[in-house]
Amino acid sequence: MLEVRDLHASYGKVEVLQGVSLDVADGEIVGLLGRNGVGKTTTLKAIMGLVRASAGRATFDGVDLTGLAAHRVPAHGIGYVPQGRGIFPNLTVEENLFLGLRSEPSAQQRALIFDRFPQLQERLTQKGGTLSGGEQQQLAIARCLVMQPKLLILDEPTEGIMPILIKEIRSEIRKINKTGVSILLVEQNLVTAFKICSVIYLMEKGAIVHRSSAADLKTQPDVIHRYLGMAA
Ligand SMILES: Nc1ncnc2c1ncn2[C@@H]1O[C@H](COP(=O)(O)OP(=O)(O)OP(=O)(O)O)[C@@H](O)[C@H]1O
Ligand SMILES: [Mg+2]
Repeated sequence: MLEVRDLHASYGKVEVLQGVSLDVADGEIVGLLGRNGVGKTTTLKAIMGLVRASAGRATFDGVDLTGLAAHRVPAHGIGYVPQGRGIFPNLTVEENLFLGLRSEPSAQQRALIFDRFPQLQERLTQKGGTLSGGEQQQLAIARCLVMQPKLLILDEPTEGIMPILIKEIRSEIRKINKTGVSILLVEQNLVTAFKICSVIYLMEKGAIVHRSSAADLKTQPDVIHRYLGMAA
C-alpha cells in the first residue's frame, strides 16, 4: 500500500535523506528504527508532504504523494501523529479531536473514538495542553482515527511516556491494527518494536541499511548493536 522509493530530501545544503526505500503492506505493522538524527522523522515528513522530496517518491495505493500539498495527503487515507504529538495546547480536547472534519462529527464518529478512548470523553472541555503526556498521545492518535485512515504513521509514540503506560500504548496500537489499519511506526523503544512490528527497517545516515522480520532481527544482536548501539 505504501511504497517509498529512493527518497531524497535536504535541509538547505545538507542532504538528510539519501535514498530511502521502504514498503508497508496492507495490514502490517512496520517499524523504522535508528539512532538520533539519522532521518526517521524527516522520512515521515517527506511521505506526508511536510518536507519536499528532491528525488524519489512515495506512493500510497498507487497515488503519488510526493507531488501533493501536505494538507491533501490525509484525505488519501493516511493519519500522521508527529513526534511530540502536535496537540494544540489552547484548544479543548473536543476541538483537537474533530479539527480535521469539515462538519460536526456524527454520533457514529464520536462513538468510534469514545469506545476506544473513554478517558478522552471525560476530558472533552479540558485544554489539550493540560493533558498528561500519555493522554496527549491518545488524543493525537484519536484525532487521526476520526479521519478513518487506512495507514497510521506514528513518530515515537512512547517517547516520554512512563514505562508502565508504554504497555497500554502498545496494546492500543495493536487494537487499531486489528481493525484493519496498517501502521508505520518510528520507535526508539526496542521492546515495543519487537513486540508489535512484523517487519523492521533500520536506518543510518539518511538511508535504510537493514530490513528483516522482527523475529529475525531478534537473533542478530550484532546488527542491533551496530545500528542502534544497544543490546537486544
Ligand atoms: N528543520 C530542519 N532544518 C535543518 N536541519 C534539520 C531540520 N530538521 C531536522 N534536521 C536535521 O536533519 C537530521 C535528521 O533529523 P530527523 O529529525 O529526521 O532525525 P530522527 O532520526 O527523527 O532523530 P530523533 O531520533 O532524534 O527524532 C538531523 O541531523 C537534524 O538535525
Ligand atoms: Mg525523530
